[in-house]
Amino acid sequence: MSYHDGLMLRRTCAIAAFAICSAFMPSVCAETGYDAWLRYAPLDPAAAKQYARLPVAVFVSSGSPVLESAQAELVRGVRGMLGKTLHVESRMPAGDAIVLATFDALAELGLSAPPEPVEGTYLLKAVERKGSSMLLIAGAGDRGILYGVFAFLRRIATGRGIEHLDEQESPYAPVRWTNEWDNLDGSIERGYAGRSIFFDGGQVVPDLTRALDYARLLASIGINGCTVNSVNTDPRTLTSPFILELARIADVFRPWGVRLSMAIDFSSPKSIGGLDTFDPLDPQVAAWWKQKADEIYRAIPDLAGFVLKADSEGRLGPSAYSRSHADAANVLARALKPHGGLLFYRAFVYDHHMDWRNPKNDRARAAYDSFHPLDGQFDDNVVLQIKHGPIDFQVREPVSPLLGALEHTNEAIELQITQEYTGQQRHLCYLVPMWKEVLDFDLHASGQVTYVKDLVSGRTFHRPAGGFVGVANVGLDANWLGHDLAMANLYGFGRLAFDPNLSPREIAEEWTRMTFGNDAPVVETIVSLLMESWPAYENYTGPLGAGTLTDIIQAHYGPGIESSERNGWGQWHRAGADGIGMDRTVATGTGFIGQYWPEAARLYESLENCPDDLLLFMHHVPWTHLLHSGKTVIQHIYDSHYDGAARVQTFPERWQELKGRIDEPRYEAVLAKFEYQAGHAIVWRDAVCDWFFRTSGIPDAQGRVGHHPGRVEAESMTLDGYTVEPVTPWETASGGKAISCLRPACTATFRFEGKSGTYDIAVQYFDENAGVARYKLIVAGKMAAEWLANDTLPSDQPNGHTSTRKSVRGILLHAGDEIRIEAKPDAKDHADIDYVELTPARR
Ligand code: GCU
Repeated sequence: MSYHDGLMLRRTCAIAAFAICSAFMPSVCAETGYDAWLRYAPLDPAAAKQYARLPVAVFVSSGSPVLESAQAELVRGVRGMLGKTLHVESRMPAGDAIVLATFDALAELGLSAPPEPVEGTYLLKAVERKGSSMLLIAGAGDRGILYGVFAFLRRIATGRGIEHLDEQESPYAPVRWTNEWDNLDGSIERGYAGRSIFFDGGQVVPDLTRALDYARLLASIGINGCTVNSVNTDPRTLTSPFILELARIADVFRPWGVRLSMAIDFSSPKSIGGLDTFDPLDPQVAAWWKQKADEIYRAIPDLAGFVLKADSEGRLGPSAYSRSHADAANVLARALKPHGGLLFYRAFVYDHHMDWRNPKNDRARAAYDSFHPLDGQFDDNVVLQIKHGPIDFQVREPVSPLLGALEHTNEAIELQITQEYTGQQRHLCYLVPMWKEVLDFDLHASGQVTYVKDLVSGRTFHRPAGGFVGVANVGLDANWLGHDLAMANLYGFGRLAFDPNLSPREIAEEWTRMTFGNDAPVVETIVSLLMESWPAYENYTGPLGAGTLTDIIQAHYGPGIESSERNGWGQWHRAGADGIGMDRTVATGTGFIGQYWPEAARLYESLENCPDDLLLFMHHVPWTHLLHSGKTVIQHIYDSHYDGAARVQTFPERWQELKGRIDEPRYEAVLAKFEYQAGHAIVWRDAVCDWFFRTSGIPDAQGRVGHHPGRVEAESMTLDGYTVEPVTPWETASGGKAISCLRPACTATFRFEGKSGTYDIAVQYFDENAGVARYKLIVAGKMAAEWLANDTLPSDQPNGHTSTRKSVRGILLHAGDEIRIEAKPDAKDHADIDYVELTPARR
């Protein structure tokens, strides 16, 4: 569905919502996902009853664009959920009222404000006053009131009472930002939900409705800053005409209390500024940055700051002039300082041409080695933006030791909402439990108890700035992130940034209720699917902290196990005949573990203490090494891949139990994603197990690896037109081969030789992104299924990115039946087939 169709449907639905949806089931009106968790769907009458005494008069103690948003949101939410129209009064009403007031204005109402609240704090309080009931939504600043309104509406949407209301919350940290990796041409780096909502063809898009609606979503979870362009930025960002374009985005963000920030290119003084240098210590360069910052602030007076990726992955930086990262950060920070701007300097600095043959080389060391020696040299408005792990958003990494190594420098943790290495929004992977483990990790900085959440928020070392940055990469798809359930990650990021003490399950439940309604089976099922999804994804993609087994050179999506090795990218798992894992010990390895404070280092340095789930990140061990679980490493790899893939086979079936309880478009869209994920998990399972079997030479004690009863390889079928081709890498096709159709039409045929009965038939084929092939599955002369291979998976070749499963369930087969696939390729999709698998019917 296009964005505009989506909008039309949403509007029609909104108008019809109370009339139609509340008359039947509360959640079945067609939805696109555009409204995300701010649907304000009608509550069922029993649930709505508890809000019957909600005052209808609203009084706002002052005026501002943010307060106008707050007030309008309150009216919208209450009307949507309770069917009640609030009246905004220009004077304090004599009777019952909802009052929106800043803490400063509370004295006028005869009420006291909380002492020294931080910006964004809110208070929800039921107050009896002169015989009337007042529902107070108060805040520190306009943002506090806005957050209070969203918290109040969240209560209603999740069915929590408002009698005796007395809730006060303060944001945990001042920095709660998203970064968007949008390019000026409208593409998005590592974006999986369509093109940019901000840019197209080198310009800011004329219609910024999506940007405005995005700011509303961000505000509802307490996000107060957003960097709109990619860290791999285009120097044109800083040209005068473009600054004026960016100001338009800042204008639509402002009423929602979201401040714009921009990623900048460090070589700009030279590349667009007309200087012959960008040396940060050159006075002309400092003057150029100062004048540029002044110009930007004339157009965007509330710009939040700059984000800089320098000396990383080919970006220019201070090393060009043998200057330090502190020199680079400070020249920018000083230009921003008079305007109150922050400079985020990314600590994602490493050498991507490292010699893989040197066992002492280690990319994981890079951030600490580069930045720890500079602690104390950064100005107070510099924030080091540090990825949560020492490598790059893998499914399992230890906490970056740099987070515990800066006592005199502001820091922010960078988390990745967009699922670059975790299934790219085609797989469900709810990341909040992973982030929560990171934030609750005790780094023992200076020998004290120091949780990551307290270090990054600036609480531990009393830093003036710090907090949370999430790389979101929403796109033009109607539902923002491509997968309706992936929005739980965006929601969860904001909620954790505001309050990292929330539990992942609480967040999942809150999000589900707001996004899909309060129907108990819906809530139970979706929460359990979310909670199981990260462990399942880890199980079928990556074992024991070995790092990524994906194709790291290209798409970062399907399996590509050897792509990590024998190159300079430093994502080595060092699997070979003798065993697997990076030796990062101080005693015999790269010394990375020595970057942790002693208490944390002790956890990792010895094989006895090291937790199983990070074993291969820290140690190189033989395949037969016994884990704490009692299994050998190799058997764990086999078992976890089978367990993880089996777990996600249940996802489509469990989702189907919700049919009729969720609106049809979202129900169908998620079901299709789950069917796909179930198939792709098997691709992952088989690729990893086959590769590790070949490398270790140790068979699976349970006899599954390499044995697939019911599987018929395409290359063994009777082929008409098809030719047999090797697949690269070999482990991404069963038996290393597929059949490819280079003629206008081809068929592959075999006879069923098993016991008569009802079977599920899976056709494993490759759906290359550059073309569209057509398939027909014909069983005993009857059409069993017909489909198009028209997806846009991230490759134009048959491999682990494109391997796709078509499942056809409940087909009656008799011994001797002919099973035939008829395929029509096009010039760019050769209708490649890997195998057909027949299993006794599951449902
Ligand atoms: C990852 C990602 C890149 C990105 C980089 C970064 O390596 O694949 O696309 O530019 O992180 O965070 O800068």
